[in-house]
Amino acid sequence: MLKNTFANNAFEHFEIAAYKLLLSLADIVGLSSAKPLLQASLKEEEAMAAWIDQNIDSDTSSYVKAQAA
Ligand SMILES: [Fe+2]
Repeated sequence: MLKNTFANNAFEHFEIAAYKLLLSLADIVGLSSAKPLLQASLKEEEAMAAWIDQNIDSDTSSYVKAQAA
C-alpha cells in the first residue's frame, strides 16, 4: 500500500509535467484549440496530486497501525 501511494504520487507529478509541456507545445505551434482540454486534464492531475499529498500521513498511519495489530 505504501509503495502504491509513493508510486501514485510520483505518477501524478509526471502527468502534471506532461500536461504542462503539452500546453507549452500548444502555444509554440499555435494549437490553441487543444488548450482547454489540456488545462482541464492538468487541473484533474493537480487535484489528484493534492489529494494524495493530503492523505499520505493518514494512509501511512493507518497502514502502520494495521500492520502492528
Ligand atoms: Fe493522474
